[in-house]
Amino acid sequence: MPYGSRLAATMTRRLGRECVYVPSARLALYLALRRWCRPGGRVLMSPVNDDVILFVVLAAGLRPVQAPVSAWDGNIDPAAVPEATWRGVDAVLSTNLYGIPDRVGELSRRCAQLGIPLIEDAAHAIGTHVDGRPIGTFGKAAAFSLSKHVAAMAGGFLAVEDGRTRRELELLRDDLLEPTRLRADLAATLRPLARSAVRTLHLVRPAWRTMQRLGLLERDDFRMPLHAPRLSASALRAPNLTAYEPWVRVDLHDFRTRHGALVRGQLRLRMSRLDTDLTHRRAGVTLLSGTAWASPALRDRAAHDGPYPLFRAPLLVDDRDALAERLVDHGIVSGYIYDPPLDDYAGAEFVDPSPDPAPARWFASHVLPADPLLAHRVIRALTRERATTAQPAAPAPVPDTRKPPTPLGQ
Ligand SMILES: Cc1ncc(COP(=O)(O)O)c(C=O)c1O
Repeated sequence: MPYGSRLAATMTRRLGRECVYVPSARLALYLALRRWCRPGGRVLMSPVNDDVILFVVLAAGLRPVQAPVSAWDGNIDPAAVPEATWRGVDAVLSTNLYGIPDRVGELSRRCAQLGIPLIEDAAHAIGTHVDGRPIGTFGKAAAFSLSKHVAAMAGGFLAVEDGRTRRELELLRDDLLEPTRLRADLAATLRPLARSAVRTLHLVRPAWRTMQRLGLLERDDFRMPLHAPRLSASALRAPNLTAYEPWVRVDLHDFRTRHGALVRGQLRLRMSRLDTDLTHRRAGVTLLSGTAWASPALRDRAAHDGPYPLFRAPLLVDDRDALAERLVDHGIVSGYIYDPPLDDYAGAEFVDPSPDPAPARWFASHVLPADPLLAHRVIRALTRERATTAQPAAPAPVPDTRKPPTPLGQ
């Protein structure tokens, strides 16, 4: 039996696509990019994305081309991508930021016209559907992360179109995996338990502040240090995952370690609770969508089709950085902030900059990704902090259905 096939079968049943088990979504993306893109190719992607993903694209020997995004949700705005850019790219990588879907209909149509692959990053979007179809079934391949919705801090899937491709990718994966280590397995099993204990015991604030003080966080800022000269040197070895490991492994050092039975058993248990988790997320998203801080994408969806079971609910607030810092005192650590956009972060040596960087800058600097599982606590904290709603310079392309903030305790 191929490695991780029981877990993969569970995901295949959910998604209706063939799945390969991987220790992380970043490894899934690397596999997909290596399988569908020739080294030297150019990949259209959103600059409002995890820096780790930028390094995965570079590790695959590809040039990241930063797309214009919508200030509405931070995802690629296909209509704003210049025709010359469309004609010059070899693949498109979606983000589905925080679980809000990319404009997959338009992206897959353009990719089909151009004869290039759409690769879906579904790491944030495990429960998101578009017209009744799950995100992760629109492209050639899709990456899912179990570190996100089920908080496993390990595991993921690569979903592909057919059994033959799955078998091919299982072999590619096996070549990249590093052997199981008991220590890594124990850490992967205990880490999520430690995190939930910290939360249950209301220790988020002291634990976070202590990690900050001891320098245990891999990012001082929202982005990791780039180390440009070392990055240029690694480019000489690309495509090569090992050459980029110092960047790709950030936040998940065992991203390519073969998990043993202990970890896989725990992941199966967590997968069996996924539907309950998604139900709780929808409830939290409903609460957050009714507040004045909800991004237009959030409000609009809740008003028309019901809530998505988001990984994070994008709220838009003034003075976001100071607010995020104060939220730690309320026991809320706001992760997954991708600021500045990747073109400002990495510069033209490493990426093609977006032709219209303003919406990405605005969105990245105002979005506060809120965990829907903590919706009550977030609303209470933002109310106490008198957080004000950020308004985009240009009006967002939706009718104004804004409601007053939800009263506390609802
Ligand atoms: C948008 C996005 N894609 C992919 C990943 C990688 O997921 P994993 O940690 O499972 O490798 C992350 C990680 O945070 C992410 O934010």
